[in-house]
Amino acid sequence: QPGIACDIVVFGGTGDLALRKLLPALYYLHREGHLHADTRILALARRNESNQGYRHWVRRQVSQYLAPGDFSDTVWSGFAERLDYLSLDVSQRVEFPRLARQLGQQPGRVRVFYLATLPNLFAATARHLASVGLADEQARIVLEKPLGESLPTAARINDEIGEYFSESRVFRIDHYLGKEAVQNLLALRFGNALFEPLWRNAHIEHVQISVLETVGVENRGDYYDRAGAMRDMVQNHLLQLLCLVAMEAPVHFEPEAVRNEKLKILEALRPITGMDVQDVTVRGQYAAGKRAGEELPAYYFEKSVDHDSNTETFVALKVEIDNWRWAGVPFYLRTGKRLAQRKSEIIIQFKSVPHRLFAQGHETPTENRLVIRLQPDESIRLSLMAKSPGRGMTLQPVDLDLNFAKAFKKRRWDAYERLLLDVIQGDATLFMRRDEIEAAWRWIDPILTGWQDCYRSPKPYASGSWGPDAANSLVERLGHQWFETD
Ligand code: BG6
Repeated sequence: QPGIACDIVVFGGTGDLALRKLLPALYYLHREGHLHADTRILALARRNESNQGYRHWVRRQVSQYLAPGDFSDTVWSGFAERLDYLSLDVSQRVEFPRLARQLGQQPGRVRVFYLATLPNLFAATARHLASVGLADEQARIVLEKPLGESLPTAARINDEIGEYFSESRVFRIDHYLGKEAVQNLLALRFGNALFEPLWRNAHIEHVQISVLETVGVENRGDYYDRAGAMRDMVQNHLLQLLCLVAMEAPVHFEPEAVRNEKLKILEALRPITGMDVQDVTVRGQYAAGKRAGEELPAYYFEKSVDHDSNTETFVALKVEIDNWRWAGVPFYLRTGKRLAQRKSEIIIQFKSVPHRLFAQGHETPTENRLVIRLQPDESIRLSLMAKSPGRGMTLQPVDLDLNFAKAFKKRRWDAYERLLLDVIQGDATLFMRRDEIEAAWRWIDPILTGWQDCYRSPKPYASGSWGPDAANSLVERLGHQWFETD
C-alpha cells in the first residue's frame, strides 16, 4: 500500500485553485498509485450541492486542466469514489459539528486541512476546527499564500493559527518550491562539487532572477488590486528562489536544516528604505498593448480593478545580501504580468577572465554564464567561450545545454503533486516556516511604505513588452543588462 491513509479536506472546493491545481494534482497522484486505497478527499464550499452534482461538475472542470490525453473515464471513476462534497460556511462555528460527523471519530488518522480560501478566513477556520476536536496531533493545516499583507497582519495570522496547530503541523505553501527545476537547482548546487567553489563574490559578477508572465490579472482583479506584484510574487516566490541560490549548504536535507539556511539569507538582505526605494526599485503597471495581433487592455480596465489603480503589475529590484559570501554582488529581481514572453530564469553571470588574451581590437565577449530555466521548459545551460573554427583566435559563445525533457523521458510532476504528498507524509522541507515568512515581510514592508510615501504612480509599460524602461536603467547603472535568452 502506498503512503498513509488520510482525509484530505479542501476548504475552497469550488475555487480556482482547487479546480486548476489541487484536484488535478490529486487525480494524478491517484492515477499513479500514490494515494492509499483508504485516502478520502472532502471538498468544502458554501454552494449547495450534492456529492453527485459536485463530482459531475468537477469532472468537466478538471479534465480541462490535465495534460492533453491524460483524462480517462476509468481513472476518473476510481478517483470520484474518493471524492465527496460538503456544503459549509467556514465563518460559522455552528456548521463544524457537521464536518466532524462527516469525518467520523477515527483516532490516529492523519487529516490534512487545506485552506485554499482567503487568508482572512484562516484564523476562524483553525479555531472552528479546534472547537470540534479536529485540530488534534494528527491534523495538518496547509495555508496558501498570501499569508497576510504586511508583517503585522502575517504575524497575527501566524499567532492565531499557532494557538491551535503547533509549528510542525503548519504547512505554508509556496508552490515554486515544489517545481522540478527549483529542486534541480539544489541538485546542481549540492550534488556537484564543480560549482560550489565558484559560487561566491570572488567569481560571480551578478545574479538575475526573472519570473515573467504573459497573462494579465484574469479573474483575480479583486485580490490582485489590493496585493500587487510585490506581495503576490516577490514576497514569496522570488525571495524563496533567491534563498535557494544564495543559501549555504544545509547539513541535512530536512526541514529545520534547510529552513535555517534560508532564514539566514532573508535576515542578511540589505534593507531598502528611505530614498533607496527610488534608486533600487522600479514598479510598473501594464498599459494597453498588442501581442501576436491581439489587442490587450490596460490593467485599470480589467474586471474588478479600480480605474485609478496605483497597483504595480511589474517590479524590478536590485538586492544585496550583506554576508561574507555575497558582499558586493547585485541580485536583480524582476517579475511582471502581460510581458512579451512567459519565462522564469535564474542567471548566474560569472566574472570575466582577469586578462584578455584573445581580444583582437574589440572587447572579447564574456559569456561564462549559467542559465537555469524553470519555465516554460526546464533546462540548465552553461554558456562558455570557444574558438570559432578557422584561422585566428576569434572567440564566440557556445552552450553546454541540458534539457530535462530530453534527458529524462518521465512525466514531469506538477509542484502541487509533490507538495501534497509531502504534507501527507508530514515532510515540511519545502514549506515556509513562520520566521521565514515574517523575515520576508520585514524586508518588504519598508519598500511598500516607500512607494506609498513618494506619491509616484507605477511606470506604465505596453502589454506585450519587456516592462518599463526604468527596469533597464536599473541594471545598466552598473554596466549590466537583462539577458533575454530564448
Ligand atoms: C501565483 C500568483 O502564486 O503564482 C499568480 O498568485 C501567478 O499571480 C502564479 O500567476 C504564477 O505561477 P506559475 O506556476 O504559473 O509560474
